[in-house]
Amino acid sequence: MEEKVFYITTPIYYVNDVPHIGNAYTTMVADIVARFQRLLGREVLFATGTDEHAIKVAEAAEAEGIDPKTFVDRIAPKFKEVWKELEISYDDFIRTPEPRHVRVVQEAFRRLRDSGDIYRGVYEGWYCVPDETFFRESEVTDGLCPNPECRRPVQWVQEETYYFRLSAYQDRLLQWIESNPGCLQPEFRKNEVVSFIKHGLQDISVSRANRGWGIPVPDEPDKVIYVWFDALLNYITVAGWLSDEEKFHRTWPADLQLMGKDIFVRFHSTFWPAMLMGLGIQPPRVLFGHGFWSVEGEKISKSRGNAISPAKLAEDLASRSGAKREVAVDAIRYFMVREVPFGVDADFSRSALVHRFNSDLANDLGNLLNRTLSMVGSYFDGVVPKPAGVAEEIKSEVLSAVAECETALSSLEFARGLEAIWRAVSAGNRFVDERAPWRLMKEGKREEAATVLYSVLETARIVAITLSPVMPSAAREIWRQIGSPGDFESVGWAAALEWGVLPSGIMTAGPQPIFPRIEERKREPKAEAGAESPVGAGFAIPPQQAPEETKPEAEEPVISYDEFKKLDIRVAEIKSAEQVAGTDKLLQLTVDPGDGERTIVAGIAQWYEPEKLLGKKIVLLANLQPAKIRGVESRGMLLAADVDGRAIILTPDEDVPSGAKVR
Ligand code: MSP
Repeated sequence: MEEKVFYITTPIYYVNDVPHIGNAYTTMVADIVARFQRLLGREVLFATGTDEHAIKVAEAAEAEGIDPKTFVDRIAPKFKEVWKELEISYDDFIRTPEPRHVRVVQEAFRRLRDSGDIYRGVYEGWYCVPDETFFRESEVTDGLCPNPECRRPVQWVQEETYYFRLSAYQDRLLQWIESNPGCLQPEFRKNEVVSFIKHGLQDISVSRANRGWGIPVPDEPDKVIYVWFDALLNYITVAGWLSDEEKFHRTWPADLQLMGKDIFVRFHSTFWPAMLMGLGIQPPRVLFGHGFWSVEGEKISKSRGNAISPAKLAEDLASRSGAKREVAVDAIRYFMVREVPFGVDADFSRSALVHRFNSDLANDLGNLLNRTLSMVGSYFDGVVPKPAGVAEEIKSEVLSAVAECETALSSLEFARGLEAIWRAVSAGNRFVDERAPWRLMKEGKREEAATVLYSVLETARIVAITLSPVMPSAAREIWRQIGSPGDFESVGWAAALEWGVLPSGIMTAGPQPIFPRIEERKREPKAEAGAESPVGAGFAIPPQQAPEETKPEAEEPVISYDEFKKLDIRVAEIKSAEQVAGTDKLLQLTVDPGDGERTIVAGIAQWYEPEKLLGKKIVLLANLQPAKIRGVESRGMLLAADVDGRAIILTPDEDVPSGAKVR
């Protein structure tokens, strides 16, 4: 019998916006699991896609004055671009308007209607468009969505509808959960599901009046199918339900369905398995609801301007460190699964990312590789030396780390898996320190030095394989630099369980530092005005790069009082504020510094809403040479404090008149 395909899914994303680091997280984690399973030799189906029939998608299109189809056709490919940049190795990307999916949704609806699980009624209650969720009258108290992650206004809906008989599945759902330990993870979220179900399930409305967007209810084109009913079914469309029976048989049930906690309880752990039960299909093997990311302690939200794009973050990390862009992507992937255990909430902070980059990647791993390869270069002409024997102590430490890493990755404990790999890295570094090949060479013990260096190269080979699900590009680079033949994808995880595989006598190709250290207080890299970095480049836009900008840190200039006196710093009032067209970082401000109004441009749009700035008194460097920024002439610079890359505007302690000098 053919082996079951390992089927892993991400939620399919609403296309009203491009992904930020929060929702890219689900996909990055799924990619890590998919790569790990492939290395283990499993055939994998890794699916992701876009959820396009939401009302909010139609509303976003309407806001732009275009029809929804044109809108989704423009946004959906952007997801593919982002996933490509983040090295997401998906096998199938489903878009809900595709005919293969429309057919599945309509057929599932028809079957459930025929069996009586879907019945006609009238819906009267609340609907939250951002969450695309129905709420009972009693669930809403203040006209706001009861989901704590949302809390946006709900709409009152009264229309003829179809209901899905969810209430009939209460006992079956509880029984499924009880008889399949581990089907809902993590455990603490399973308990939430159980109490949600025990609290009593209500039938759920599964159609809406057709306003021109969505999959029509079979035989009733005045109604469209509820977007969640439509979206959840994507998982069986991809697996081949109704289109490829053999594929479906080999693929379903899904081995792992990943999602954030917001869509875990109600939709994925209750509605979804009930729908499947109604269709006579087995529920998935494991549903995992992970925690939420905040940014610098704040909830991610578009209006706060902290919805960091992972691609921009990588670009910035690359320019700050000098690492290749794909290595910077890897570092972000590493950070996000290393920082907290998978499942709980986490906070993204720029300083924590830089810290991890410097300490784990540049110091520990980077050092191991660089010093080993440079010694191989100096002592053995860059050729992998032949060991005199097996260095048992490092071998056993590294192999036990691999075993632990495998167990951890299999049970989605990524942080523990990476810790295990770092034990191997540290073992390698310690081995070099203790055995000191440079001393051995001086003492003429060339064979011993060869054994030490070979063992460390072998450690690097094994680290490359085990690290590759999380950091595929960096692993490829390590592999290349140590001269390992072929690629880790073809040798697979099994090659990490063996010691002594790296052939002696082959040429190495390093060292070329993969993770150049980020000098924290280094000047920001020269950036195009307005293209500030999401991890902390300047937000006060200098119209010209002063010559000092390029000088190294050690030459920090000292200025005389006379020079300081040349600065015309004044209090100014903000009279108007608006976003500079075509950027999401820049605001164009009209300010009055006491001698008439003028325009300045400031890189603060990420943190300040224009309306909230009106009337604020700011501190202005008024005699800066004017400069055109994105077509707008800026005459002066707003001063702000830089707190980990975030701009905090400085304002006077008391109300002072515009034009007051700051000395
Ligand atoms: N379209 C639905 C899913 C349908 S699946 C059949 C949806 N889409 S979404 O685009 O809003 O969210 C996609 C994923 O991003 C979800 O797993 C959600 O939990 C996750 N996240 C959104 N914000 C997040 C954070 N701040 N942190 C972590 N995950 C986050 O819901």
